[in-house]
Amino acid sequence: MGDQTQKDKLKQDIFLKIEEYYKLIHEPKSFTPGESRVPYSGRVFDSREMINLVDSALDFWLTSGPYGNKLEKEFKDYFGCNDFFLVNSGSSANLIVVSALVSQQLKERLKPGDEIITPAVTFPTTLAPIIQNGLVPVFVDCEIGTYNINAALIEDAVSDKTRAVFVPHTLGNPCDMDVIMSIAKKYNLFVLEDVCDALGAVYDGMKVGTFGDLASLSFFPAHHITMGEGGGVVINNNSLRKIAKSIRDWGRDCWCEPGQNNACGKRFEWKLGKLPHGYDHKYIYSNIGYNLKVTDMQAAIGLEQMRKLDLFIEKRNGNFKTLYAGLQKYSGFLELPKSCEKAEPSWFGFPITVMGGVNRLELVKWLEASKIETRLVFGGNILRQPGFSNFPHRIHGALDETDRVMNDTFFIGVYPGLTEAMINFVISRFDEFFKSKGLV
Ligand SMILES: Cc1ncc(COP(=O)(O)O)c(C=O)c1O
Repeated sequence: MGDQTQKDKLKQDIFLKIEEYYKLIHEPKSFTPGESRVPYSGRVFDSREMINLVDSALDFWLTSGPYGNKLEKEFKDYFGCNDFFLVNSGSSANLIVVSALVSQQLKERLKPGDEIITPAVTFPTTLAPIIQNGLVPVFVDCEIGTYNINAALIEDAVSDKTRAVFVPHTLGNPCDMDVIMSIAKKYNLFVLEDVCDALGAVYDGMKVGTFGDLASLSFFPAHHITMGEGGGVVINNNSLRKIAKSIRDWGRDCWCEPGQNNACGKRFEWKLGKLPHGYDHKYIYSNIGYNLKVTDMQAAIGLEQMRKLDLFIEKRNGNFKTLYAGLQKYSGFLELPKSCEKAEPSWFGFPITVMGGVNRLELVKWLEASKIETRLVFGGNILRQPGFSNFPHRIHGALDETDRVMNDTFFIGVYPGLTEAMINFVISRFDEFFKSKGLV
């Protein structure tokens, strides 16, 4: 038997064993209300993700390679964007998209003290790179219901130092991109989109992530698809493409893939900065960068998850609809989620704001006691977080709604691992809660 045939046979044997293992260990178990957990999110996978992962491990490429290239191409086609590359987390993607705007290679780069408008209800690593790059975040209030930046407030927040807006599409619900893009155009602002929670969401027929100059994605297990840890950068503005990739790859000028040499064809002929002529291009650094790359094993999982994405989104949105229908009767006590007219969300969770005398902590504890997981909308008012108490910033207007999110909002799951029985159980626990309070 030739080496190749023997290799294929061994792989087939291993893959059959993986299917057996998956069935025994990982196949979803039956649901017992009150005893089994109803997670807010989680990995949904079958033996195919595990087979891809092991296939990649057997090839032992390790750094991003065949699977990574394939997945990057699939994402580029999915978004119809200029370019797309993988990174090791959504936080890294956010670091890259902000850092790209201060690169010395960018003619109209942002300078220390320049401002970026962003909501005060945010995820910490959406904000952190703004601060770390010496830029000044300008906080704007959000809207209860959409939990996105209140787009109507943005224009008044613009000053002569404002150079960009960075907007997360909270919990998969698209921001008002008509307003945001028209302000960006009027004041010549860069637009960054945090799409970490919103893969597949659409606004006015266009996927979110394709409006701004750059966008970030996360593939942490809670997200629409997972690679364990992982993320991606969507490039729409071609003048940021090389810069963003360089920041991912140590800040280097060279664009050779791992294991490649001399992609430029003149590796020893460059003269850049104050370096001597012929300094090896592999060691020329044009940006202040990091190593934020992904492994091929992560990409191998991601590729199979990508095959399931449309189904995942359909299931998430279906679970959202069932919850909405079941909870609508409590509209005097629970503010249910809403979206812009042109938005087609790809729901990450089901956000709820309590009102009419309902106490969030009491309701959350009630649900958690039945093993129904709840989460808060990330940092709430990020300015009240201990780690964010002392940094240069500006607040535009009041942050009343933001404080309300911090005090009264939480979310429950809609992820594809939730069955009809689980969703019905969740609704029944809400029913019991309101009955126990004598509110129905
Ligand atoms: C809106 C948002 N941005 C960024 C991130 C960071 O992504 P990661 O956990 O992959 O670093 C998250 C994580 O959940 C997020 O929800």
